[in-house]
Amino acid sequence: MSAKPKSWDLAPEALSKAQAKGELMRLAMEIGEHDKHYHQDDAPIISDADYDALRQRNEAIEALFPELVQQDGPSGRVGAAPSEKFEKVKHAQAMLSLGNAFDDEDVADFRTRIAKFLNLKEDEVLELTAEPKIDGLSASLRYERGELVLAATRGDGTTGENITRNIRTIDEIPQQLNMDNPPPVFEVRGEVYMDHGDFAALNERQQTDDKPPFANPRNAAAGSLRQLDPNVTAQRPLKFFAYGWGEVSALPADTQEGVLKALSDWGFQINPLMSNDDSLEKTIRTYKTIGDQRVELGYDIDGVVYKVNRLDWQERLGFVSRAPRWAIAHKFPPEQAQTLLEDIDIQVGRTGALTPVAKLKPITVGGVVVSNATLHNADEITRKDVRIGDTVIIQRAGDVIPQVVSAVMDKRPKDAVPFEFPTRCPVCDSHAVREINPTTGKEDVVARCTGGLICAAQAMERLKHFVSRNALDIEGLGNKQVELFWEKGAVRTPADIFNLADKIKTVDLEPLETWEGFGETSAENLFAAIDERRSIEFDRLLFGLGIRHVGQTTAKLLARTYGDWASFRTAMRAAGDMESEAYADLVAIDGIGPVVAAAMADFFSEPHNEEVLLALETALREIKDAEQPASESPVTGKTVVFTGTLERMTRSEAKARAESLGAKVSGSVSAKTDILVAGPGAGSKLKKATELGVTVMDEDAWLELIAGS
Ligand code: IVH
Repeated sequence: MSAKPKSWDLAPEALSKAQAKGELMRLAMEIGEHDKHYHQDDAPIISDADYDALRQRNEAIEALFPELVQQDGPSGRVGAAPSEKFEKVKHAQAMLSLGNAFDDEDVADFRTRIAKFLNLKEDEVLELTAEPKIDGLSASLRYERGELVLAATRGDGTTGENITRNIRTIDEIPQQLNMDNPPPVFEVRGEVYMDHGDFAALNERQQTDDKPPFANPRNAAAGSLRQLDPNVTAQRPLKFFAYGWGEVSALPADTQEGVLKALSDWGFQINPLMSNDDSLEKTIRTYKTIGDQRVELGYDIDGVVYKVNRLDWQERLGFVSRAPRWAIAHKFPPEQAQTLLEDIDIQVGRTGALTPVAKLKPITVGGVVVSNATLHNADEITRKDVRIGDTVIIQRAGDVIPQVVSAVMDKRPKDAVPFEFPTRCPVCDSHAVREINPTTGKEDVVARCTGGLICAAQAMERLKHFVSRNALDIEGLGNKQVELFWEKGAVRTPADIFNLADKIKTVDLEPLETWEGFGETSAENLFAAIDERRSIEFDRLLFGLGIRHVGQTTAKLLARTYGDWASFRTAMRAAGDMESEAYADLVAIDGIGPVVAAAMADFFSEPHNEEVLLALETALREIKDAEQPASESPVTGKTVVFTGTLERMTRSEAKARAESLGAKVSGSVSAKTDILVAGPGAGSKLKKATELGVTVMDEDAWLELIAGS
């Protein structure tokens, strides 16, 4: 008898819809966790290639089952939420991200997809512009009647930060558009960056001023632009390439190339290497030419961006969740260098995961000084047979954390011995074990400290997680402060944070405002920020508890399912008994597998956690009920069927647009159908819809209905 294959072993094409749904949930959870390891902890546990593979699988499944795409899934998330320091700006048009191509074949597929979507004829010419992908940070500049009135960072794509005062200090950005009769509104979008010469000079100044150097030009540009004091920005030479636009009252041309030419006339820098190519061969040639010039450019680029030149086609192609269908970034291969592996450090994370970190003899890779690199886990060290004393090849790709690729065997010292992965936690000396995954039956790749909260490293990491951006998000309470409060013994559990002033007294410390680095105002601000979070969203609180396998997506799903905290808590108390109905209800939730359910049951049946939760609930003022997804368009939640010939769009275009507005598109008419869009030649479906009393409209009426959504 052969075992039934698990969903995650199946190719996307082989998945049923139900399996695909489960897979997307699982991938969202896994990718979310890795994003956190990478962005918040700076300690990824898998290689970039493995991470990319997860994302690619996610995208492949989404492409096959567009109706299952979740707004807050991995493909819908862009960058980081805006910081609290700057005033927030809601973008008139979202600032999105780009899909990636890693080789020529991906570029060929990109062209094919476009041709198919637009239903282009064999001999129709498809032009793609190509320009360097600048490694800086994007900004949106709003001009009203030709005057710069507002500038914003991308933020989370919807809301950015108001950086107008800082942007005004950049010479390459005009305060006024150089043109007669400027349009009422024109938002220019592009990349703010720092060139290599200015970066080196800035780091030299940092050194003389006894300040830490920036790791790379991109960080330097970001740090400079996000200065609260624009005078500081003014002393940091930043540059700007325009590559696109946001809200506009009128466009000066009907091609990408044409608009960029106009932007150049109006006073912007556009990249001189930009080209417009009418075949795959020419596009690939441009990619190579730009790649060959990469080292001499004097600024960092990490790929080439291709865009459909015709704007009417861009419009028709539209977007899929996080990225336009009409553009793609063709990435350059990663950069490598060799250096000495001086030591291997073991770091302990929030869930007890022991992560090996390579301590390297500092070396410059692609302009960045690297002294640490991740080794992921014990298996990776064994697989690569990396030993202390080895010369190793390390690799950086874009802004990702450097990785150890392999050891150079010719250079291995005779006395080098295989690395022995510790069996005890380096912080609390508890046993470190590799758990068996209950669903796969395989041993987990990660060794975990079993010390739980008696392990200082775990307890402290959990507190950091609790206050982090996607959890409680307490302004002014970051990793550094948590470490400080921990070391002084003032904070041990989440509730302690909400009783901080009292706790400080209890452990006989001076009041916070007298501590070094605090003062009256910042102590007051911190207490106010903590107080503000006594009213907290259900999903943030749940995510903040740091339960194994419960990432943001799962926390949101659970919050939406249970609705309010009190019902959820009652259900979870009962679910501790895995024979109970409450447990059966929990595993029955679409997207909650046995691993998550078991982790939840474990967490809520542990008496110590109950204690911590009760104290926390007492300290909080309000746990807000989960928000149910609001309907955003006249067709959200409606089931729509298209039939007959569509004249103003292709079928896939119509379907994609309807789905992006929250409608379900079905192939057949039934009593559940809400709208039938019928073009010329409609037959049996139209007849059936009329019989069933389904709303019938033509293509124009449909377009009118969804216009403005
Ligand atoms: S076009 C709708 N063109 O890459 C998205 N982006 O990965 C349009 N970037 O957020 C983006 N150089 O910060 C575009 N020539 C270029 C670019 C470029 C750099 C950045 C930009 C964007 C990110 C997407």
